[in-house]
Amino acid sequence: MPTPIAAQRLADHGLILAETSAVTGSLVFERPAWLFGHRLKNCTVGAFSFWNASGHTAAYRTHFGRYTQIGESSIIGPPEHPMDWFSSHPFAFGRPQHLPSMYQVPDFARLAPDADAGPSYVDGVVNDTWIDHEAYIGAACFVKRGVRVGIGACVGARSVVTRDIPAFAMAVGSPAKVLRMRFSDAIIERLLALAWWQYDLAPHKKQVDFAQVEATLAFFEQCKAEGRLQPLRPDTYTLMRNDDQMTLAERPPLF
Ligand SMILES: CC(C)(COP(=O)(O)OP(=O)(O)OC[C@H]1O[C@@H](n2cnc3c(N)ncnc32)[C@H](O)[C@@H]1OP(=O)(O)O)[C@@H](O)C(=O)NCCC(=O)NCCS
Repeated sequence: MPTPIAAQRLADHGLILAETSAVTGSLVFERPAWLFGHRLKNCTVGAFSFWNASGHTAAYRTHFGRYTQIGESSIIGPPEHPMDWFSSHPFAFGRPQHLPSMYQVPDFARLAPDADAGPSYVDGVVNDTWIDHEAYIGAACFVKRGVRVGIGACVGARSVVTRDIPAFAMAVGSPAKVLRMRFSDAIIERLLALAWWQYDLAPHKKQVDFAQVEATLAFFEQCKAEGRLQPLRPDTYTLMRNDDQMTLAERPPLF
């Protein structure tokens, strides 16, 4: 059941935002998440996701896995305007429910389609973007709508991602191309099989050195085989914001 929530109470639920006006529409999040973003529109965010506190980042209809790390001033999954229409301007394809702030000005509403105009261009396009578990987006990147940045992938600073990036690849440039892989094929296969982001690692932290990939991997593989890894089941919420009203509702974990 959604209940009203004051901005200062969000931290009690494991969510740190720079400003609550950053959220447009809905935000589904697993706790904890540090989203010092400028704009989040209809996103889902896995546990331990971290956005750099400086600069402004914006994400639109993007699904973030667990442990994602987002550099400052990145733009992820923004909408596209139709390139082959008479005009690419929103007056041609808008609907009041998608662009309420534009429609509140009569000059725009007079020209743009009315609410009863039927399905819009926006309804017919791929809208979602994925930043998978533990992916790391460097500072000032642009990630095109519809792209998937794979598990454990790294996107170098100021890159422009126009195509999917494979798991554990490091990609740089404009357009982003794979520079190298973070690990050997064998290690990547084991990391994907272990899927450590599904488990609560905290009880084991004193027994591993996260700087040591092989040894840490072997340790957790053994824990998993022996049934000693417990699933990570973080408290998960849907935050809705309409103007200055916010509501929070519990829901099952995302993963
Ligand atoms: C991608 C990255 C991780 C690679 O680091 P690295 O493995 O140490 O790479 P190197 O510095 O050895 O560079 C390897 C090659 O890639 C190029 N390169 C590295 N980063 C690049 C980038 N962001 N864009 C374009 N080219 C890049 C280098 O010029 C070099 O090219 P060369 O072999 O032709 O000389 C790093 O450069 C980067 O961009 N990190 C992001 C940092 C950041 O944004 N932090 C914010 C966190 S909140």
